[in-house]
Amino acid sequence: GTSEDIDTDIITLTRFLTEQQHNLGSHATGDFTLLCHALQFAFKSIAYYIRRATLINLVGLAGSANSTGDDQKKLDVIGNDIFVNAMRGCGKVKVLVSEEVEEAIVFPGNGKYIVVCDPIDGSSNLDAGVSVGTIFGIFKLSDDAEGVAEDACKPGTELVASGFTMYGASANLVLTMKGGEVNGFTLDNALGEFILSHPNMRIPKSRPIYSVNEGNTLYWDDACKEYFDSIKFPKGNGKPYSSRYIGSMVADAYRTLCYGGIFAYPADKKSPKGKLRILYECAPMAMVMEQAGGMAISSTRQRMLEVVPEHIHDRSGIFMGSENEVKKVLEIFEKYA
Ligand code: AHG
Ligand code: MN
Ligand code: MN
Ligand code: MN
Repeated sequence: GTSEDIDTDIITLTRFLTEQQHNLGSHATGDFTLLCHALQFAFKSIAYYIRRATLINLVGLAGSANSTGDDQKKLDVIGNDIFVNAMRGCGKVKVLVSEEVEEAIVFPGNGKYIVVCDPIDGSSNLDAGVSVGTIFGIFKLSDDAEGVAEDACKPGTELVASGFTMYGASANLVLTMKGGEVNGFTLDNALGEFILSHPNMRIPKSRPIYSVNEGNTLYWDDACKEYFDSIKFPKGNGKPYSSRYIGSMVADAYRTLCYGGIFAYPADKKSPKGKLRILYECAPMAMVMEQAGGMAISSTRQRMLEVVPEHIHDRSGIFMGSENEVKKVLEIFEKYA
């Protein structure tokens, strides 16, 4: 009959969060769950605008730049406003750091969490219809902290949760909580619910795929050049790696999580501290990769999650993905240490 073919025991994100909260035991106040519901609403709203952008003239530049020097797209600004309002509205956030806002936003009230976010990642690709996404990280505000920007300058090891939503063929949310698994949810547009579609995502230990903007080769240091040459022109009878670069970190990260391989945005002569921002790009992605069984390091061979940002928009080089692929980078970099 058809009944056993239909999954009627659907795990929505809402149900998943309730079950997680029960696992946390009685001291869980529900604040984190309510914060995640606000995040979920932000993702659904951004997905809605992204999908209609071309139809309602939302593509193109906003005519402004952000504090990291990026030209802001209209959707960068709208994504940011949606996110800020959702975080303010839930009453659980004290400090919010966004790529699109120069200063950390401190909300009134006694929110217990610090949220860092990249509202629209890969926005330079938006007008070409390429997948973009939202990256987020959640820290707990220290008990004695009153809630200022410096409170957000924490290493990724202190993240209580992180993840991203990629707005591709469908909206894919990847969520991980400290010490936990990585779970993937797909937005069912008809239901308006994120459904658990990829429970306990694990990244393959090896995969001959590399993802880097080779247009920066001129600016790479010798260690970097030697590493990439070693996988493009392998010694002996090794096969060269395949190259895959989308140019949206969330899309390159999601592919790396699903297929394995290595993603890199090295620090180089053009961007001595790297291009990607520590708080709302490198650290959340590093947490996802590590908790899925992968690795993430900086250009100075530090564990990415241990890098402490000097300011809220501080940057770092990053190599992340399959454990054995990142170990190959370390092997070569150690020769130059
Ligand atoms: P954002 O759109 O949030 O500013 O991030 C863009 C980042 C990241 O998504 C991607 O990995 C990287 O920029 C691509 O940079 P290049 O175009 O220099 O390769
Ligand atoms: Mn940007
Ligand atoms: Mn980004
Ligand atoms: Mn962005």
